Amino acid sequence: MQPYRIAVMASGSGSNFQAIVDQVQKGKLDVSIELLVCDRPNAFVVERAREAKVPVFVFNPKEYESREAYETLVLKELQDRQIDLVVMAGYMRIITNVLVEPFFGRMINIHPSLLPSFPGVRAVEQAVDYGVKQTGVTVHFVDGGLDSGPIIAQRAVEIHEHETADSLTERIHAAEHVLLPQVVRWLREGRVSIDGRRVSVRL
Ligand code: GAR
Repeated sequence: MQPYRIAVMASGSGSNFQAIVDQVQKGKLDVSIELLVCDRPNAFVVERAREAKVPVFVFNPKEYESREAYETLVLKELQDRQIDLVVMAGYMRIITNVLVEPFFGRMINIHPSLLPSFPGVRAVEQAVDYGVKQTGVTVHFVDGGLDSGPIIAQRAVEIHEHETADSLTERIHAAEHVLLPQVVRWLREGRVSIDGRRVSVRL
């Protein structure tokens, strides 16, 4: 098989980035992680990338006059490296058509709820506060909206009595660390097709 070149975009701790790195290092995921894109120079994910010897493109959005301005640079980094798939793993910024259009169908995001419930920030807290009994994790293609693109896979996580956002976040993360590498594997193996909003996976 041809090498499959991925880039990860992240803003925070990067446990999902690490989950992908771990699967690659164990030989269970046949992709090449070509780049980490990060909008926070001090984020822990940057250290994880250096440790894993993954090149990093880090930028400070405040230094640019618009989203489009820094996304144009990100796009160039992605194109120069001939990236097949962009994985947004805790990238906490809205993205514009500068990135969405060239990568539609080749850009995925992980979100910590069962979309379309609880899009946006603080999704775990939103679910606890609302009082739902189940929440979960969604991996979807990225379109121009907020957590609104076609859904590839979801996994439910139960909310226990007296649950706190912290305890739930731990179980959400555990579910994410399984689901995200699995979806990357499906895409790598060409098992995923999109028909409008509906996505099918040949297992
Ligand atoms: C993950 O839970 C991810 O689903 C969430 O940020 C966390 C990043 O954790 N993403 C969003 O909320 C996007 N709307 P990590 O840095 O440990 O991978």
